[in-house]
Amino acid sequence: MYRIKSKIKTDSPEFKKNQEEFMKVLNEYKERLAKVKKGGSERAVAKHKKRGKLLARERIDLLVDANTPFMELSALAANDQFDGQFPSAGIITGIGVIQGKETLIIANDATVKGGTYIKETIKKHVRAQEVAMENSLPCVYMVDSGGVFLPEQANVFPDKYDFGRFFFNQARMSAAGLPQIAIVMGSCTAGGAYVPAMSDETIIVKEQGTIFIGGPPLVKAATGEEVSAEELGGADVHTSISGVADHYAEDDKHAIQICRNIFETLELKEKQNLDISEPEEPFYDPKELYGIAPTDLKKPVDSREIIARMVDGSKFQEFKARYAPTIVTGFAKIMGFPVGIIANNGVLFSETSLKAAHFIELCSARNIPILFLQNITGFIVGKEYEHKGIAKDGAKFVHAVANANVPKFTVVFGGSFGAGNYAMAGRAYEPRFLFMWPNAKISVMGGEQAANVLITVKQDQLKAKGKEMSQEDIDKLRNSILTKYEHEGSAYYSTSRLWDDGIIDPTDTRKIIAMGIATSLNKKYPETKHGIFRM
Ligand code: COA
Repeated sequence: MYRIKSKIKTDSPEFKKNQEEFMKVLNEYKERLAKVKKGGSERAVAKHKKRGKLLARERIDLLVDANTPFMELSALAANDQFDGQFPSAGIITGIGVIQGKETLIIANDATVKGGTYIKETIKKHVRAQEVAMENSLPCVYMVDSGGVFLPEQANVFPDKYDFGRFFFNQARMSAAGLPQIAIVMGSCTAGGAYVPAMSDETIIVKEQGTIFIGGPPLVKAATGEEVSAEELGGADVHTSISGVADHYAEDDKHAIQICRNIFETLELKEKQNLDISEPEEPFYDPKELYGIAPTDLKKPVDSREIIARMVDGSKFQEFKARYAPTIVTGFAKIMGFPVGIIANNGVLFSETSLKAAHFIELCSARNIPILFLQNITGFIVGKEYEHKGIAKDGAKFVHAVANANVPKFTVVFGGSFGAGNYAMAGRAYEPRFLFMWPNAKISVMGGEQAANVLITVKQDQLKAKGKEMSQEDIDKLRNSILTKYEHEGSAYYSTSRLWDDGIIDPTDTRKIIAMGIATSLNKKYPETKHGIFRM
């Protein structure tokens, strides 16, 4: 493979200005992350520790193999919602390695409103289970939760992907041979009691863990019976009388050790074969991404410059380099893993779509994972392009993406607008993981375009009635749409609502995609079968 020749001048004022702007964006991201990683209020954290319990992230640190990373998902979920009272939506999810096995870990953070579930907590829990199913991973549930956050019950209880889905997923995963292990480290009330009860093996911590369908207040109200939590469903009860749990742990550390011991007994599964080579650092420093990543989305960025700072040796086997230049396609290695890359380099035309669809077929035929690098305003519009059939060519691209069964990974490094989001493996196209850079923006179209569309619609309505829109009304409508789109299009708005798997520092992209590919090897890549392409 040839090395990409960068045209970036790192001493140019343009580069330095972008870098300066990007550092502001990055610092804001880091501040937000540091804040949520503290968990709940100081009072709640102190109370939790006083009980001799470890914090959720400390528990995960001890559970995973020493010196291995934990790939946390959606750390900024629920950010800027609920007056900031649900940092990380009160639940930590991600992938860690236990006894050499990539494992999906879900840990309630009891310092956040007693580990109770709002809509975002539910979405995060269900999404984590989906990751486990898509990649055939065992699951560990570190349970410490008061169940549903009762004021929000209508948003969390009854729908298909609400609370009940946890247990459905556990049953299906258990049946599919994906081990389900629960460690009860605190409360497991009402529906929550099914997490340990539905697990293949369950550990419970002495004097901390409780499991019951109805807690003591409910029992008293329902039957008049007065009983303590420990007597009703503590570790002693469940390991010696009810059989709801299997292992009795002295404390959090002991419980975690038991879980690690269980992992020694799990079956070793056959993995997907991939031609993995010795990892190599990129020739161009990934830190230069700060000077290149678009802080102003109007500024065009040659996506080869992004690729050069992400792939091994900055080497790239470009495919159809001279054809349809608004999309860049080609093969590379990321930390030794082979990957096909599709990166936007401008608006999508008919030939762009055909080139991308062709490249997806190549990756599928060769069993090579695909990385989509999104910076897309959308498909080209206008009479000439409609007549040439942009809709049917765009459809071929969307068909190819939807049916490609090799793992797909999506990183939004700039804008993600309109149907371009779909063709480039947006959330609805089931990429194994989708990450945003902190500068990224996502919405159905840009704010200015949306404002212009709405102003035109309004003007046409008034014209039909023989009236006109005043300049003041035009400005008012434009400003309100721009403000709304600016707010709703931000990466924080997206990640807060779990439209992605998290915001990442551009320099971590390599490492995170490599972990994603390593994770995907736990499930054999299914064969790809394409549907009918409209010719
Ligand atoms: N819904 C809404 N808020 C809840 C809640 C619930 N189910 N359970 C706890 N909270 C809130 C508390 O009001 C408190 O809020 P605050 O910090 O604003 O004061 C916070 O979570 C912590 O609760 P607290 O009781 O002080 O903490 P704790 O660690 O001593 O106990 C629980 C935690 C979860 C064991 C205990 O609160 C409890 O039993 N909750 C009820 C559980 C239940 O019956 N759930 C049924 C849901 S289906």
